[in-house]
Amino acid sequence: MDIFRIEGPVRLSGQVTVNGSKNAALPIMAAAILAEGQSSLAGVPRLSDVRLFGDLLQTLGCRVERDADEPMRIDASVISNPVGDYEIVRKMRASICILGPLLARCGRAEVSMPGGCAIGDRPINLHVRGLRELGAEIHLKNGYVIAEAPKGLRGASIFLGGSFGSTVLGTANVMMAAALAKGRTVVESAACEPEISDLANCLNAMGARISGIGSPRLVIEGVPHLHPVQYRVIPDRIEAGTFMVAAAITRGELKLVNCRLDDLMAVVDKLRNVGVTVEPTADGCVVAGTDHLRPTDVTTQPYPGFPTDLQAQLMALLALAEGNSVVIEKIFPDRFMHVAELNRMAADLRKEGPAVIVAGVKNLVAAPVMASDLRASAALVLAGLAAEGTTIINRVYHIDRGYERIEERLNPLGAQIFREDAPAP
Ligand code: EPU
Repeated sequence: MDIFRIEGPVRLSGQVTVNGSKNAALPIMAAAILAEGQSSLAGVPRLSDVRLFGDLLQTLGCRVERDADEPMRIDASVISNPVGDYEIVRKMRASICILGPLLARCGRAEVSMPGGCAIGDRPINLHVRGLRELGAEIHLKNGYVIAEAPKGLRGASIFLGGSFGSTVLGTANVMMAAALAKGRTVVESAACEPEISDLANCLNAMGARISGIGSPRLVIEGVPHLHPVQYRVIPDRIEAGTFMVAAAITRGELKLVNCRLDDLMAVVDKLRNVGVTVEPTADGCVVAGTDHLRPTDVTTQPYPGFPTDLQAQLMALLALAEGNSVVIEKIFPDRFMHVAELNRMAADLRKEGPAVIVAGVKNLVAAPVMASDLRASAALVLAGLAAEGTTIINRVYHIDRGYERIEERLNPLGAQIFREDAPAP
């Protein structure tokens, strides 16, 4: 098992190109199921989650191929086994987004029910509700969600809001199923995340008829068939935001290329609020840190609000602000596994229900810490860059799920991150 040894503190400078979006790529890979034939997807990041999703598609009967620097090719001419196996789904909850496309394409799907994880319970009641409204019969058997639509799916009016707002992958599932349903579907309280807009644009490029893209009201006119597509996924706004915080926390200066600033308005606003400079460029921005970081309050919200996927990283930054900040998590109220680990690095964080009070400290101090989930781990890497001494991060496979060889991206900018074998127990 790999660990990271990070020597700090460092000051980052230089240019970094943002990769394609993981959370756009995964549902778009699932969308390939909807069309007989070979789709070609450019900009798909090389991440362990993407490889696992490719494996999942292969178990369904798809052929997934990828050569160096080439687009990923998914041949969905035959779907021989519409079953999302427990062994894969338990490793990656995003697997649930094959449910809608399998149901639409095959009239039947069995997908292992995803369990909870380090960031919370992760229910799928809204996915199920939406697909039932489209005419699916759904029940649970031996831990599998069994969905059937023997008479085909039909358009419906669907409200997809839940207690924590809209659902990203729930919207993806319903939109993909409705694309091939008979008649018109209206989804109210749809997720507005850029990844959902990217999926909708990809579906339209496959012949779907979706309007209202980017708004909470999607209108989907069902079509009888979709065709394979050549498509490029959008840049990863969460990776971009992580690099922005990397510049800020090391008081460095980074130029981000292939970064859509429009997708990051809430993040840019918060960073400017604490004294970080963000200057737009033609295809990205330049981010520069400050010696006097101001505290702030931040609440995570569905897009266009501040993303939960950058909460941990911003908290690492606020740990070094000159004063007290408050971070409130409204999407996954238990997503605070990084708090105890950052405190091991001499941060002063106090959890109060779904909020964390961050008392700024002058310096972070290196320590051995444990990666728990993807974004929490990213926060530990950022803290390690700023901390005095040698930080050891265990279980870096969590980071590899969403950041492609992060050490090879950050080391040319001045970081000193070394991937090493964990010492034998
Ligand atoms: N929820 C329900 N019922 C449902 C579905 C969701 O109550 O049927 C609740 C969730 O428990 C949560 C809220 O609704 O409180 C939002 O969850 P959502 O369904 O939007 O999350 P998701 O679609 O499972 C995606 C991303 C996550 C990201 C969230 C929120 C992918 C593959 N995953 O998950 O990304 O945090 O949206 O933006 O797109 C990550 O990349 O690290 C990551 C966890």
